[in-house]
Amino acid sequence: MSKERVYIFDTTLRDGEQVPGCQLNTIEKIEVAKMLEDLGVDIIEAGFPISSPGDFNSVIEISKAVVEPVVCGLTRAIKKDIEVAADALKFAKRPRIHTGIGTSYYHIYHKLNSTPEKIIERGAEAVKYAKSFVEDVEFYAEDAGRTDNNFLAQVVEKMIDAGATVINIPDTTGYTLPEEYGKKIKYLAENVPNIHKAILSTHCHNDLGMATANTMSGILNGARQVEVTINGIGERAGNTSLEEVVMIMKSRKHLNLTTNINPRKIYKSSRMVSTLMRMPVQPNKAIVGRNAFAHSSGIHQDGVLKRRENYEIINPKTVGIKESSFVLTARSGRAALKHRLKQLGYTFEKEALDALYEQFLEVADAKKEVGDDDLKALVGASSRDITRNLHLHRLQVLCGKGSIPVATVTLEWEGSCYTETAEGNGPVDASFTAVKNIVKKKVRLEEFLIQAIHRGSNDLGKVHVQVESRGQIYYGFSASTDIITASVEAFIDALSQVV
Ligand code: KIV
Ligand code: ZN
Repeated sequence: MSKERVYIFDTTLRDGEQVPGCQLNTIEKIEVAKMLEDLGVDIIEAGFPISSPGDFNSVIEISKAVVEPVVCGLTRAIKKDIEVAADALKFAKRPRIHTGIGTSYYHIYHKLNSTPEKIIERGAEAVKYAKSFVEDVEFYAEDAGRTDNNFLAQVVEKMIDAGATVINIPDTTGYTLPEEYGKKIKYLAENVPNIHKAILSTHCHNDLGMATANTMSGILNGARQVEVTINGIGERAGNTSLEEVVMIMKSRKHLNLTTNINPRKIYKSSRMVSTLMRMPVQPNKAIVGRNAFAHSSGIHQDGVLKRRENYEIINPKTVGIKESSFVLTARSGRAALKHRLKQLGYTFEKEALDALYEQFLEVADAKKEVGDDDLKALVGASSRDITRNLHLHRLQVLCGKGSIPVATVTLEWEGSCYTETAEGNGPVDASFTAVKNIVKKKVRLEEFLIQAIHRGSNDLGKVHVQVESRGQIYYGFSASTDIITASVEAFIDALSQVV
């Protein structure tokens, strides 16, 4: 039986970009749009053209930059919005205008100060007007999640009559339960006489943590387009995350659903969006979080070593992650220790391993995690190939508007001090370059995240760093009120583990 296609509508560059602090410039947006095209997204919502000259310009440039996906611009049900969107989309090979209006009691009476009849009239006029510019018009019934199903069905019928070929049913406030949302989609599929002329689309927000469940419920009840974002970023608690719905459809084969997404590009896309939008991914985020494929308890580590499927429902390679990882802690067992030692090139017979395991537990009790350098010290490896005792002794940076950032770093390394000065495109870049000039390890920075713990300017900054060296990933962490110092210390923490 052939699988049914679900269209992926990505709104990272519109709903995602509305998040405070996540704004991108046009060049960055083009980079993300090209990545989305490469990932296999069907529709890219490139922006809300009337909202700012920057958004208008980005929609123009994205329209020029991508070939395959439909490029979509958002509007309100206002003529000027639609004209501006049509203008911004003029270079798109496959343009779509996404117009709409609020349909819930709250929106009709307390936001738009209108009546249900007038809302239908305004919506239909907007769809017709959009249709005079482009063939592909999508209508959204804002706050459809809290809209009465009977009224919603009337709205949908009129919008399809007016020419809409995609009908978006947003759960704008993330309020519905999966069962309710599924029933809403089913109700529309069964009660709107002209529904066969349109595709029903989901657009779920995550205010109660149900965005993915609601989206899946929508699909299972007839929706064939899903509006999602990379890493689930979006207004307030975010939108449905692309990687979650795509991997649900891929993993649960009996659903007989397919998308055009290349899952191997998911992790890379997640990293790109997180880095460009300066929006860290929570470590326990499904599919793309740092811990999504990290096993820490002894029972789980042992189980995964016996057979990956014991504790993993997805092979990390499927989403572009090299391999699962084991975090060695006091809860790790012999199997995990033996496995990691083997990866580092050491093999031990049972008795030797037992003895080593006792020592390992002592170290693990004293430290939260036992890193590779600790293991090497345990097995008494030559200290020459281990970058141990690496400490930041002194850091001085010169930066600010109009100056070239310069950093002078002094590291204490195996008992001696080394100083280097380097320039960079910012104080962190300059400092990292100076550190690399001293340590001379071939490493690639894979992740660099700064998070404020509270909100004040006197706050502690937490820095996570991930570096890659010869196919191996190393993590570093530090926290300080001085974020440049914390960044350099986190980098050194990761480097000190590189063998
Ligand atoms: O959440 C929402 O209702 C929206 C619409 C503008 C589509 O983002
Ligand atoms: Zn939204």
